[in-house]
Amino acid sequence: MSRPVRVAVSGANGNIGYALIFRLASGQIFGPQTPVSLRLLEITPFLPNLQGTIMELEDCAFPTLADVQASDKAEVAFADADWVILVGGMPRKDGMSRADLIRANGPIFTGQGKAINDVASADARILVVANPCNTNALIAKSHAPRIKPENWFAMTRLDQNRAASLLAAKAGVNVGQVTRMAIWGNHSDTQYPDYKNARIGGKPVTEVISDHAWLEETFIPTVAKRGGAVIKARGASSAASAANAALAHVHSMVNPTAAGDCVSAGICSTGQYGIPAGLIYSMPLHVTDSKNYKVIDDFVVDEKARQRIDASVKELTDERDVVKDLLGPAI
Ligand code: LMR
Repeated sequence: MSRPVRVAVSGANGNIGYALIFRLASGQIFGPQTPVSLRLLEITPFLPNLQGTIMELEDCAFPTLADVQASDKAEVAFADADWVILVGGMPRKDGMSRADLIRANGPIFTGQGKAINDVASADARILVVANPCNTNALIAKSHAPRIKPENWFAMTRLDQNRAASLLAAKAGVNVGQVTRMAIWGNHSDTQYPDYKNARIGGKPVTEVISDHAWLEETFIPTVAKRGGAVIKARGASSAASAANAALAHVHSMVNPTAAGDCVSAGICSTGQYGIPAGLIYSMPLHVTDSKNYKVIDDFVVDEKARQRIDASVKELTDERDVVKDLLGPAI
């Protein structure tokens, strides 16, 4: 077996955490030859419950679980982490937008960004799941000048999965037939699920699905508002599907993307497609090897798509203004 990959998870005792850590430990994400060392961060009152989850992890007898420790201190939990998955934060309730959480959750990310800067592995990669994830990632990243900007991600894989699933259902095909399903922008209602560049069975979606009005008027808002619909139906925000998306994100980032496909994630823009540099903005990515990715540069952006992309830029710029007192030197 190779050296363990160390994965820190914040909010480990929550619903997403519970759905996440067993699959991380099982070898499913990094493979059967890579042991996983888990570091679980929780607030102090939940540490006793988390001990119960650790007992369950032990009882699973995963050969790939090297060790597991819990802590209520980010500086302890994030030490030498190769991956940090930031799940902890207040979830939204029915009737709220994700941005309504900004002042409740934003401050968590100043301390966590500093802790990552101080103690995580120099090559650590960080995935922010807690909402509003793009702006939380921006805050944390701004306090971590030691970590490369390209190592920060905000999770839009859940939107990508939702979009692929919806297109597959409409076309009556298996979801594996949907490729190049990019999400642009914020993990919010302004996101743009880009059906125009996506493929079904290798063909443009607009050739396979003739109902173009459905694509523009139903598909886009259904994907963008799906998190709210889940909250309404379940009485709680998505957990298993969010955990699944976080795991899919990590798996996708350590394995090359299949030719002709893409993965979506909020990354620190360097100006691609005219997105202002520094914003954490979701784009189509191609992972080249276990450590590197590039933004795919041949997506066609027509005028309508541009308007949608710009609307999400505007929203993220506004969110950045709301948290400007929380931003650190590496903005
Ligand atoms: C989701 O998209 O399901 C999550 O981000 C939770 C939420 O508040 O929508």
